[in-house]
Amino acid sequence: MPYPTSTALRSPPAAPSREPYKLYGQTYPLDTHSNLPPTIISKLDRGLLTHPSHPLSILRQIIQDHFASATSIVHPNPVVSVFQNFDELGFPADHPGRAVTDSYYLNKDYMLRAHTSAHEVETYRSGLDHWLLSADVYRRDEIDASHYPVFHQMEGTHVWSESELDALPALNAKLAADLAGCPLVIEDTTQISPSNPYQPSHDPRHAAQITQHLKHSLNSLIFRLFGGVAQSGGEPLRVRWIEAFFPFTTPSYEVEVWWGGEWLELLGCGVVMQKTLDLAGQSHKSGWAFGLGLERIAMVLYNIPDIRLFWSTDARFLSQFKPGQITQFKPYSKYPPCHKDMSFWLPEATVAVEAGSEAGGAGEGVTKVEAGRRVFHENDYCEIVREVAGDLVETVTLIDDFTHPKSKRQSKCYRLNYRSMDRSLSNEEVNALQDQVQKRVVSEMGIEMR
Ligand code: PHE
Repeated sequence: MPYPTSTALRSPPAAPSREPYKLYGQTYPLDTHSNLPPTIISKLDRGLLTHPSHPLSILRQIIQDHFASATSIVHPNPVVSVFQNFDELGFPADHPGRAVTDSYYLNKDYMLRAHTSAHEVETYRSGLDHWLLSADVYRRDEIDASHYPVFHQMEGTHVWSESELDALPALNAKLAADLAGCPLVIEDTTQISPSNPYQPSHDPRHAAQITQHLKHSLNSLIFRLFGGVAQSGGEPLRVRWIEAFFPFTTPSYEVEVWWGGEWLELLGCGVVMQKTLDLAGQSHKSGWAFGLGLERIAMVLYNIPDIRLFWSTDARFLSQFKPGQITQFKPYSKYPPCHKDMSFWLPEATVAVEAGSEAGGAGEGVTKVEAGRRVFHENDYCEIVREVAGDLVETVTLIDDFTHPKSKRQSKCYRLNYRSMDRSLSNEEVNALQDQVQKRVVSEMGIEMR
């Protein structure tokens, strides 16, 4: 057999491999759910959360220091079973997050975790009562300055056994006294109601104490993170509690902070559903949990304008941050953007689904054909754009949506804005990227350029 010639080595790569995924020492056979692209696989081992001078790692450390008595875990392996990510936590079979357009699947049984809550049951099972678990999480999404298919969450929780719950009133009094001394305005008109009830198996007095402890603990964390900066402007910090729904907590809340003239959503939380603790063999315990997005918080605290910067390996980015400190990011340069529009016809009889829409498809066996009609999903389009252009694409925006009055055919026009974080892009380079996107969407999504 001859050695391959250099030409053969340089020939274009073959069609995406249909080899099973081999990750963390395991082999995952492919099936119709498998949708893990190479760009995502290449992000798996970046370890941003443990890089000592990375802003996400610094923020993680600051939160861990605040909850000094909690056990801190950085969970390395993002592969979880679909059961762990969804079923065990009570997500219904038709929850939109389960769609192949919204999550990354190795196959129908395994996926990349879409939230850190996927580790709740196993962590409670290990016997820990007060812990923080940080990890990279993966979701298929739109493309803009605050969305990236990989981001980082921290799950935090505190549970107590029945006998320990009697200590909560005293703990709460102490936390309330500490908070009373902070320039903090807490807006909370939430109520326990049929839409956000205590759990039937809980003594309402205990549930009220747990809820109180959750609120005090998070208000105090938020003041630790945002209070210093807000105070320097002379105004007290404003925090708002709103009723929420999660299948694995009740009552449930979302917490927002008033920042830069708008309410910024920080986290979701609630009283842990007893079923979660039952599954973990900890039926005698109850308590609270929260989940927060580290990028969202880091972007505003450090003034980082684009989520792609967290992935930068440029020393001009990384050298700006110091452990234990939150400092203002100084942009080293904003390189010029270059936008290109792409107009196309969807295949006939297509239903279009926009990113973030609840109609992303239903539960088991989601395919791109529903009721005999092909589905155009914006997340699929964005994924191809990311596959081709990686971090060189800044935003993808729908700028025109049109249905032909006679033929009823649908057309769309997306504006792809290209900009590098580290250098200027040439027009030729951008044209070549746009060309490749065009070829791939035509062949993979059955659309027709206008
Ligand atoms: N996992 C939820 C999310 O990603 C957040 C959450 C965590 C809510 C823990 C309640 C309790 O949105």
